[in-house]
Amino acid sequence: MQLNFVFSNLPSEGILILFCGEGETLSDFAQTIDAATNGQLTRAITAEQFKGKKHDQLILTAPAELSLKRIVLLGLGDRNEFDALGAQKLGGKIIVTLQSLDDSSATISTDGLNNCPSTSAELTANLVLGAQLRDYRFDKYHTKPREGKPGRLNALTVLCDDPQQIEDACAPLQSLADSVCQVRDWVSEPGNILHPESYADQLNEFTKDGVEVEILDEASMEALGMGALLSVGRGSARQSKLVVMRWQGDTADQPPIAFVGKGVTFDSGGISIKPAAGMQDMKYDMAGSATVAGLIQSLAKRKAAVNVVGVVGLVENMPSNNASRPGDIVTSMSGQTIEIINTDAEGRLVLADALWYTQATFKPRCIVDIATLTGGIVTSLAHEMAGIFSNNDTLAEQLIAAGTTAGEPVWRLPLTKIYDRLVDSDIADMKNHAGIPASSITAAQFLQRFVNEVPWIHIDIVGTVWRKEDGDLAEKGASGYGVRLLDQFVRDIYGQEVRK
Ligand code: BES
Ligand code: MN
Ligand code: ZN
Repeated sequence: MQLNFVFSNLPSEGILILFCGEGETLSDFAQTIDAATNGQLTRAITAEQFKGKKHDQLILTAPAELSLKRIVLLGLGDRNEFDALGAQKLGGKIIVTLQSLDDSSATISTDGLNNCPSTSAELTANLVLGAQLRDYRFDKYHTKPREGKPGRLNALTVLCDDPQQIEDACAPLQSLADSVCQVRDWVSEPGNILHPESYADQLNEFTKDGVEVEILDEASMEALGMGALLSVGRGSARQSKLVVMRWQGDTADQPPIAFVGKGVTFDSGGISIKPAAGMQDMKYDMAGSATVAGLIQSLAKRKAAVNVVGVVGLVENMPSNNASRPGDIVTSMSGQTIEIINTDAEGRLVLADALWYTQATFKPRCIVDIATLTGGIVTSLAHEMAGIFSNNDTLAEQLIAAGTTAGEPVWRLPLTKIYDRLVDSDIADMKNHAGIPASSITAAQFLQRFVNEVPWIHIDIVGTVWRKEDGDLAEKGASGYGVRLLDQFVRDIYGQEVRK
């Protein structure tokens, strides 16, 4: 989508979008248009009883005096409650409206966004973000246009008093929008295209944006003793990889915030094979790793003054004569042994070594891991929130707050000794599967055994990474969940400084 920022002038073609708060009179710019058309706009407002309630819309064919095609008036609801998240949703709404009109470009006037608690620059930037996210579509494998599916937006022109200021406000959110869309691409790619080797190659490209990328192959992981992670990829024809992405935007002496992601590019379940129905969904079992990669990319692109390291374990979980068997015992990098009860509880095996490696190598100030770890989290929280688990109350509060701000809420679930003992094994230090009751919690307890004292949060995102229906900010499909959450979390910890 091409973005243009121009000084407020009456556009000569296409669709013009105006905003109006609930129960308010028209903004100055809208009044000019009304005056230029002998009051057609106010007549339509009266005739259609447009009140400016949130997402109310009035669509009119532009009066003959104007060379425009249409004017669309959109309601903000109560201006005092119209905030950044409201602006994102409004941006999404604009896309849905344009799709219904089968139009591929529009001009929006930001004049109607003045006098809200946030600046119109911030609101506009968020509106553009929402529009870009809602406009996204993964259509690269459609070789023919689809009947009844409107095209995507080609161009959005933003009319404002100070184009440079608005453009500057949009820039950091632009890198965020791009990364969310990149994450959706990765998550949508099928397992035959995105596998550990091809995925690692793509992440290696981050070096272009100033990210230090290191890729550990199976031999290096073997040398480090990563028997847990390696056991998962053993049945696959693809080589497992551990990809380390470092963004050093702050001074070298500052320990990084570490993010660890589960990157199972396809989870067949292995020898404990999953049922056929729905197995195709297991291509998105790498969503946690995609979120981590997307976050690093977004921070690098906006040159954030932060030190962050992302570590992703990329593996494919397949059955074969080389695959792990139920009952196998493996030794993790930490030295702790694990009895594999169920080869489908593979994510925690990948994370165990990735977490241990991360804390030992980078001495981070905290670690956040993110993973499509358990179906149980959907039982707990449905598709509305991700579940979090933490050994540190302050950190958990920070992530919860970031989730609220970013519009990607999380809910904390327990970690305690009572659940920890459920992970004990009769024959090894622990087992990878403690049964279905509280499976999300026992999975988190398992992970906790690989983080020592470092402040740590585990985020289980099975419920939130894939939408079955269209939403405000995403079509059905990959949601790109987590990038905005983690970006906000990093912003909150570091403040807003951006190194130019
Ligand atoms: N990748 C799955 C979790 C998952 C489920 C992701 C549905 C996306 C959609 C994970 O590896 C898994 O298989 N979890 C099992 C663990 C069980 C065998 C202990 C689960 O939660 O059912
Ligand atoms: Mn599994
Ligand atoms: Zn899995």
